[in-house]
Amino acid sequence: MYVCICHALNDKKVKAALSNGAKTPASVFRHYECQVQCGKCVPMMRAMANDHRTAPASHCGACSDQHDHHHDHAPVNGDLVPAYGVAAE
Ligand code: FES
Repeated sequence: MYVCICHALNDKKVKAALSNGAKTPASVFRHYECQVQCGKCVPMMRAMANDHRTAPASHCGACSDQHDHHHDHAPVNGDLVPAYGVAAE
């Protein structure tokens, strides 16, 4: 199922980004080095991000390592935020 038609991101790709530490639609876009276009997918991505956050039981043990890894790079991602529309956060 496609979540973001503009960038051909399906639910698997969005979930992969979330498993790699993405927590917002904007960070999913950053994960794939693209930015929000029409914005239609943002509510759906946000819902998926919320589900991901509130359902830790479905994660494998490696996820916490990946999240830590992501935090190490948070300042780098933060620098990119202004380029990617605040609406997606
Ligand atoms: S469907 Fe994702 S930006 Fe258009």
